[in-house]
Amino acid sequence: MEMIDQITALQKEVESFKANGPQDLEAFRLRFVSRKGVLGELFEKLKQIPPAEKKAVGKALNDLKQSAEARFREMSEATAVEKKTTDDIDLTLPPVPNRIGNLHPLTLTRARIIKIFERLGFNVEEGPEIEDDWHNFSALNFPENHPAREMQDTFFISKNPDILLRTHTSNVQIRLLERTKPPVRAIMPGRVYRNEAISARAHCFFHQVEGLYIDRNVGFADLKQTLYHFAREMFGKDTKIRFRPSFFPFTEPSAEMDISCLICKGAGCPVCKRTGWVEIGGSGMVHPNVLRNCNVDPEEFTGFAFGMGIERITMLRYQINDLRLFSENDIRFLRQFQSVS
Ligand code: PHE
Repeated sequence: MEMIDQITALQKEVESFKANGPQDLEAFRLRFVSRKGVLGELFEKLKQIPPAEKKAVGKALNDLKQSAEARFREMSEATAVEKKTTDDIDLTLPPVPNRIGNLHPLTLTRARIIKIFERLGFNVEEGPEIEDDWHNFSALNFPENHPAREMQDTFFISKNPDILLRTHTSNVQIRLLERTKPPVRAIMPGRVYRNEAISARAHCFFHQVEGLYIDRNVGFADLKQTLYHFAREMFGKDTKIRFRPSFFPFTEPSAEMDISCLICKGAGCPVCKRTGWVEIGGSGMVHPNVLRNCNVDPEEFTGFAFGMGIERITMLRYQINDLRLFSENDIRFLRQFQSVS
């Protein structure tokens, strides 16, 4: 075959070559780009070509060399891009669900409680968890030798002066009345601490929401109506409430609040210990001594207060039977709560 025809044939081969992967590309390189390939041979042959033809054949050979190199670059880039995309993502894999976090069940309940009371005109207030004896006990009319002050209930940080972890959110009643003049209408959510053995029903820390309503002519009927409204909003409009006489140093009269059991609807079950009722907190009319301790005149102002357990309410709402679940951070438990309040 004439050399020029050979070059033309190779030129066609170069143009129509398709590399289906790195192996083909390497074969192309060895054949057309490498010095040891066909082009190397042809350049050798060119030396023996008669001078009259040398110019034309030489040009054709150089053109072939250039188009082989260009084609090789083109194909290498294409396979490189292909390689990159196939390495990075496998389009046949099912998508990984985009996991967003969710709020803790206690946070959801707290938000719901706040929402209900805010609609009744209550503000949200907060106070310190590390407290002195005055705000946690004395100002709340606890007698000097009251058992709640004893070491078994209270975590003391120091003695003389007594600094402790608050045992209830009632300290915020005092803090609030120190800085605001009545009328006062506030709820005060927060964490509290008690020196108790940890079990399914008790923990050394938990959460409460305190409520305080002080104004002229506030009576027990206002307390009952407010908490009745709350129970129906929180647990459904068929919920009943009941008050049992109780004692707290800072309220007089005092009452324990129960709601009808949500699980058996009052028929009796293990959750309500077959009584049909479950306790959700304490309440009462603010003791005149407490008002006096905060420089509020009990002849002019009266009010009610209540304190409810957020864990207890959350357990009833979601039918959770172990208090420890709230603080164990087990993702399988926490993931079951949607971020809605
Ligand atoms: N502080 C009380 C407790 O922790 C609850 C309570 C609050 C009772 C306000 C009456 C009024 O048990």
